Amino acid sequence: MTERQTVSVVGLGKLGAPMVACLAEKGYSVIGVDVNPEAIRKVNEGLAPVQEPGLDEMLHRNRDRIRATADYNDAIAHSDVTFIIVPTPSDPNGHFSLKYILAAVAQIGAVLRHKERFHLVVITSTVMPGSTGNEICAALEAESGKRCGEGFGLCYSPEFIALGSVIHDMLYPDFILVGESDPKSGAILADIYRNLASNNPPVSHMNLVNAELAKISVNTFVTTKISYANMLGEICERIPGADIDVVTSAIGQDTRIGKKYLKGATGYGGPCFPRDNVAFGSLASSVGANAAIAEATDVINRRQAARIVSHLLPSLTPGVKVGILGLAYKPDTNVIEESQGIALAQELLSKGISIVVYDPLALENVRQVLGAQPEYAATAQDCVQRADVVVITTPSSVFKTLEPADLKSHNAARPKIMLDCWRVLDRDRFATVCEYRALGVG
Ligand SMILES: NC(=O)c1ccc[n+]([C@@H]2O[C@H](COP(=O)([O-])OP(=O)(O)OC[C@H]3O[C@@H](n4cnc5c(N)ncnc54)[C@H](O)[C@@H]3O)[C@@H](O)[C@H]2O)c1
Repeated sequence: MTERQTVSVVGLGKLGAPMVACLAEKGYSVIGVDVNPEAIRKVNEGLAPVQEPGLDEMLHRNRDRIRATADYNDAIAHSDVTFIIVPTPSDPNGHFSLKYILAAVAQIGAVLRHKERFHLVVITSTVMPGSTGNEICAALEAESGKRCGEGFGLCYSPEFIALGSVIHDMLYPDFILVGESDPKSGAILADIYRNLASNNPPVSHMNLVNAELAKISVNTFVTTKISYANMLGEICERIPGADIDVVTSAIGQDTRIGKKYLKGATGYGGPCFPRDNVAFGSLASSVGANAAIAEATDVINRRQAARIVSHLLPSLTPGVKVGILGLAYKPDTNVIEESQGIALAQELLSKGISIVVYDPLALENVRQVLGAQPEYAATAQDCVQRADVVVITTPSSVFKTLEPADLKSHNAARPKIMLDCWRVLDRDRFATVCEYRALGVG
């Protein structure tokens, strides 16, 4: 493989570590930087510092081209391009905080002060529109003593990835956005992305603020679509004969609408969607624009756990135990941030209802949040057997392996209840052994 230039990646987390692996896979030498010694150690040993399918293998097979350090001097001096992929937590106004980016930028700027070669800095973290061209650019210029576009270049380039398929999404993006301080910087970045992508995606060059706006707009358009489908599901389940899947399959064929994210099931969660939506609303308000769509999307999303509980309540007689299958915010990840399964568990526990929980990947994280309050099942089958009422909150392939026999009740007079929020089970087969209910079906 052709030996390419050296790239540094600051932040070896859920997005940064796969970026390191993909760049190395495509022939770049990569220096990872992190403040967490454990992440550095793991990357240096060819191990994944975060849980993501395929990451361990990809880091391992490219070990020769990857190293990690806490030393910014080393990383910036020995690379030509630096991606910043550190957290941007939400502040009390719902804006993305620049605290960690500015800490990284201060260190990078200090090294650039003494570096002769042109260096490109790329912001990949999600930021409020305007941040890259204003605060971040000003901090880099102040720390380096150089002007943006001359001594160094600055780009904003988001990743449109989903946890659980980060590596695939990085290698096969629908499109690439290059927000650039100047054409030379944009050209350097576009070249890297063209080498990284395996599918020759379209590349759009634009100024920094349009790229920042495009990033947050993609995510909030998708959240709006999810809340729309969930609202439609709620309508369907109140109308006899109505079925969310029949309706969304029909309207999804309209190319103006499309099938993706139109399932009508549980709400959205995870580290990005909920806070991107809140930030979008906050951005609209801060510039005097109307934020009604973003606010309604959030309101609908936040009532989804209560909507599930309202379905269950009539069946929750004293002594009944509820099984929750799916605590991660979606399948194939251990991330439980803003997860609907956790929200449901907390809602039930607050009502004094006993629960038993199972998730294929996330139970360790669940224990840290829910402690000893729930029972923890060893498998999906174990969870179902211990529960009287079962709720499936994510479309994990593991839950599709359940068989009707798993739901057979020991008490013939009281069949188990199955609330299948994603309709992963075969209705006809399961309806013969339990009281099968599909969310969104009247
Ligand atoms: N995770 C996603 O699905 C996703 C998707 C799109 C965008 N993003 C955005 O990407 C950014 C990073 O997200 P993430 O999920 O990878 O975060 P993460 O918390 O998983 O990882 C961040 C890493 O940055 C390190 N770090 C913090 N401060 C540092 C510093 N000053 N110098 C070096 N390293 C530092 C942390 O130790 C950690 O390893 C956020 O802005 C997020 O909104 C994330």
